[in-house]
Amino acid sequence: MSPAGRRTLVTGGAGFLGSHLCEALLRRGDFVLCLDNFHTGTRANIAALLEHPRFELLTHDVGEPLDVDVERIFNLACPASPVHYQHDPVRTTKTCVQGAINMLALATERRARILQASTSEVYGDPEVHPQPETYWGRVNPIGLRSCYNEGKRCAETLFFDYRRQHDLDIKVVRIFNTYGPRMYPDDGRVVSNFIVQALRGEDITLYGDGSQTRSFCYVDDLIDALLRAMDAPPDFTGPVNVGNPDELSMRELAERVLRLSGSGSRIVHLPLPPDDPKLRRPDIGLAQRELGWTPTVPLDEGLAATIAYFRALLV
Ligand SMILES: NC(=O)c1ccc[n+]([C@@H]2O[C@H](COP(=O)([O-])OP(=O)(O)OC[C@H]3O[C@@H](n4cnc5c(N)ncnc54)[C@H](O)[C@@H]3O)[C@@H](O)[C@H]2O)c1
Repeated sequence: MSPAGRRTLVTGGAGFLGSHLCEALLRRGDFVLCLDNFHTGTRANIAALLEHPRFELLTHDVGEPLDVDVERIFNLACPASPVHYQHDPVRTTKTCVQGAINMLALATERRARILQASTSEVYGDPEVHPQPETYWGRVNPIGLRSCYNEGKRCAETLFFDYRRQHDLDIKVVRIFNTYGPRMYPDDGRVVSNFIVQALRGEDITLYGDGSQTRSFCYVDDLIDALLRAMDAPPDFTGPVNVGNPDELSMRELAERVLRLSGSGSRIVHLPLPPDDPKLRRPDIGLAQRELGWTPTVPLDEGLAATIAYFRALLV
C-alpha cells in the first residue's frame, strides 16, 4: 500500500482508465492531481471525485511543459480508440511523443517515478502468438494506425533513453484490450460497439467472418496491475504485458453480448478494416512472476457490469 499523502499525477485522468485509476489512488490515500485536456475524457467520468479533499483537477495538454510538485506520474494521456486517434493523427503522434518528453522532463526535475501506459499495439500485426515482451513486433510505419502504434513505440524509446541518460525510475506497461464502465458509446471499440448495438436493437456488425480473436481484461483487473507495476522495485522497469490471456473470437463475443443483454439484434458481416490484427493475446508470465498479478474477473461478470453501465447511459 502507498504511504498516506503521496502526490500522484494521473495524465488522462478524466478518461476511461484514468478515472478508475484516480478512484483507486484516492482509496489508497494518495493526493491525486488529475490532468486532462478533455479531448476524449469527460467531466462526468470524474464528477464524483471533484469534491474529494485529496483530488485536484488540472486542465492541461501534455503537449505543453508542466511543472508541479509530484512524487509519482501515471502517463495515460492519449486517445486510445482508433476512431479517436485517427481523427487527428498528427495530434495523436504529438500527444504520444511530446507528451512523453514533457512528462519525463517533469519526472527528471522532481525525481519522480513515472509509469507509461503503453499498448499491445506496439506489437502491430504479430507473427508471434501469444506476444511476449521480448517480441519486437511487426508494425506498419505508414498506415492509418501508425500515428498511435509508432507514437507509443517512440514513447517507450524515450522512457528507456531517459532511464539510461538520467537514471530515471521508469515503468512501462503494455496494456492489452480493456473494457468496462466508462468506455465511450461511439468509439468503435468492439466491446462497446456490440453492447450499444445490442441495447439499441441495431444489427451487430462483425468484421470479416468473425473468426479473428481478441482477449479482454476487465478494468478493475487492469487498474490493479497498474498499481502493482508502479509499486514494483526500481530495478523492475518492464516493459510488462498486462491483459487477459483468455482468447475468444469476435463471433463468440457477439453471441455472449446478445445473451447477456437479452437483445434480439441480428449479426451482420462487414469487410475487415486495413491493418486489423488477426490475433492478439498477451503472454502475462512476466506480470505473474514479477508483479504477482493475474486477472480475476470472469468475462461474463465484466460484460454484465459494462452492459448495466451502458443501459443507464443510453436511457
Ligand atoms: N483502454 C484500452 O484498452 C487501452 C489499451 C492499450 C493502451 N491503453 C492506453 O491507456 C491510456 C488510457 O486509455 P483510455 O482507454 O482510458 O482512453 P481515453 O481516451 O478514455 O483516455 C485518454 C485520456 O487522455 C486525455 N488526453 C488525450 N490527449 C491529451 C493531451 N494531449 N493532453 C492531456 N490529456 C489528453 C483524454 O481527454 C482522455 O481523458 C492511453 O494512453 C491508451 O493508449 C488503453
